[in-house]
Amino acid sequence: MSDDQGAARGWADPTMPVTERVRALLAAMTLPEKVGQLHQVANPDPVRDAEALAAGAFGSCIVASGEHAGNVRDAGAGAEVVNALQRAAVESSRLGVPLLVARDVIHGHRTVFPIPLGQAASFDADLVRDCARVAAREATADGVRWTFAPMLDVAQDPRWGRVAESCGEDAWLTAHLGAAAVEGFQGGPGGLSDARDTLAACAKHFVGYGLVQGGRDYAEVEVGPVTLHNRHLRPFRAAVDAGVATVMSAFPTVDGTPMTAHGPLLRDHLKGELGFAGPVVSDWDAVGELCAHGVAADHRQAAALAFTAGVDIDMVTGAYHEHLADLVGAEAVPAGRLDDAVGRVLALKLRLGLFEDPFTDPTLASSVHLAPAHRALARRAAAGAVVVLRNDGVLPLAGRNDAAASRHLHVTGPFATAAGELLGTWTLDGRAQDTVSIAEAFRERFASGATRVTVDDGRFIDDTLVTARTADLVVACVGEHPMRSGEANSVTSLDLPPGQVEVLAALARVSRRLVVVVLSGRPLALERLEHLGDALVLVFHPGVEGGHGIVDVLTGDVPPSGRLPSSMPWTTGQVPVHHDQLPTGRPLDPDGPVGRYRDHRDTPALPFGFGLGYSAVRYEDLRLSAPKIGPGQVVTATVRLTCQGEHRVVETAQLYLRPHVAGVSRPVGELAGVARAVLEPGQSTEVTFALDHAALGHRDAAGRWCTDPGRWTVRVAPHAGAGRTAELEVAASPEPSPVPSPEPVPRPGGGGHPDDLNDT
Ligand code: NOJ
Repeated sequence: MSDDQGAARGWADPTMPVTERVRALLAAMTLPEKVGQLHQVANPDPVRDAEALAAGAFGSCIVASGEHAGNVRDAGAGAEVVNALQRAAVESSRLGVPLLVARDVIHGHRTVFPIPLGQAASFDADLVRDCARVAAREATADGVRWTFAPMLDVAQDPRWGRVAESCGEDAWLTAHLGAAAVEGFQGGPGGLSDARDTLAACAKHFVGYGLVQGGRDYAEVEVGPVTLHNRHLRPFRAAVDAGVATVMSAFPTVDGTPMTAHGPLLRDHLKGELGFAGPVVSDWDAVGELCAHGVAADHRQAAALAFTAGVDIDMVTGAYHEHLADLVGAEAVPAGRLDDAVGRVLALKLRLGLFEDPFTDPTLASSVHLAPAHRALARRAAAGAVVVLRNDGVLPLAGRNDAAASRHLHVTGPFATAAGELLGTWTLDGRAQDTVSIAEAFRERFASGATRVTVDDGRFIDDTLVTARTADLVVACVGEHPMRSGEANSVTSLDLPPGQVEVLAALARVSRRLVVVVLSGRPLALERLEHLGDALVLVFHPGVEGGHGIVDVLTGDVPPSGRLPSSMPWTTGQVPVHHDQLPTGRPLDPDGPVGRYRDHRDTPALPFGFGLGYSAVRYEDLRLSAPKIGPGQVVTATVRLTCQGEHRVVETAQLYLRPHVAGVSRPVGELAGVARAVLEPGQSTEVTFALDHAALGHRDAAGRWCTDPGRWTVRVAPHAGAGRTAELEVAASPEPSPVPSPEPVPRPGGGGHPDDLNDT
């Protein structure tokens, strides 16, 4: 297409509003060209697919190895191939509409950050935003302009492998961090920027996927409307408020209807009540899977169902490609629906600036990928994914008692020398050779000085035991292979993989001091490690700088700051055991004879939000700025924190709320804010949370959005199982409404930011 043609028809003028450019394009398009915009193919080839590109037969593509892409590395995108595709799309087609190239850039690109669950352990939205920003910079250097992230499923069953891709069990945390990820991918707050280094984000999987029965991937979901709206839709509302460009419908059925065909939730709620204006893309082949679900006889019926329900783009089935023109002609789909869907896609391409410049500088990737600043961020993020669960005084290793005691440090276990395995699931572009192992990081850290580091991978345990017996300190690195989590990788048992506890027990018998480091893609049930060794540390697969991040925390060079984004059960049989459960009619008496189980404890082994620092922190003097709050008002809650030990700490104070009486039963505590503070030994500081009346609403049983009036308990705590409390009188919202107000923008709490660490 020549420039003149485009200009003559109006859409090529970048000064015109996007809506007008879209209108001009729609007016010029044929029916097959419109349908093409809604057809997404996998891995197109500029030569093989030249004819289809010239015909505008597909509007977007996913670069992925297949239906289980998250588990398989592939050749990836690359500026040269993408440029060749764009050239074919733009120069040989009638209207010159560029392609939208998508890839699952989930937790980094070449610079791989911790898995989303590990990033969530930081409880730090700034960090999550920064990681997404870097991922966008690196992926766009390969020609990618659309990522299928962030995943916003509230994941309360750790058997589900995809818990690794989630922000854990809490809806507020998922919303808070998810919105930050959207901003990072899309270039900042206020929606998608057309800068060349931005990715269109995709809030997925809409909705309820985190509730698959038994943790079995793709299984059915049963959830009532109150829980769906108050918990599972909350992160999606936050993403829409943050300007997320696209949404992906989820695979499973919700109350019997596959989400790919769920008109009430997609069309009426997401696009209607929430006003989401971008395109909804199906999950991989999910339109075709409507046949396997038993709600469509063939691809024609599947296409009609999905399209009518609000799915705009058919990812790889080809059902829209084959049948949509015919369905439109036969008036078997609603009038106006086609232009609505195509308009959403075209607007996205225009907002990304693809019409102005669809090409990528092929020299960019070499300077952007793994840039030193990106690696530095990855190292900081990896340290944030480390959660110290138990410490009998052995940590930090480089503490003042250690120089004499740890002359010989032995690092062992399957994760001691592992590299690629540190990257975790969904790391399509990460490479093992770029990854710093734990052993390498230990060797580097103690390269000079009196400490000798020895390493083995624990394959021949008798040899390991002999070395362990003579070492001053043993660090055993065990846990789950990344293929044990992620898509289609659920487990029935949250124990460590078979054999590892026995090996650890043998090491504990012979070691002078033993630090157990567990790497995983999910919260585990570590009951059998309760008394084993001198310290227990959990690390969610930490990414390309994993070894450095872990050693930074173990040595104490960086204070531990990781917190559990999910409760840790004693045993698999307890799940789901999330912190925000509803009260029962018979509240537990912890000292009474009747429990929930006859054979085990009632509460989880470790609560949501838990994580130790190297000094204890005292919480005291919680006070509210006012005893009452009404519509439009903000009340602050302030608490004093004091570092009681000899080591600097990064403390994450957490705000929990609970109304005494509500229209529907409300959780025993709901997270409503976090505030981080850096404290030097002996130092006190105050952190402040802003409580916005608009944030107190929830959906009641009649489907109205309202605020429960009366007394509420405000709790500020180091984790979900503790805290200081104060009482607040809350006034009702004036008018219950069917639509929630936008998530209030979180206001910063007090206290130093952990970045301050870099200043000292
Ligand atoms: C299936 C997964 O459910 C989804 O998260 C992913 O984005 C698509 N495949 C594309 O790879």
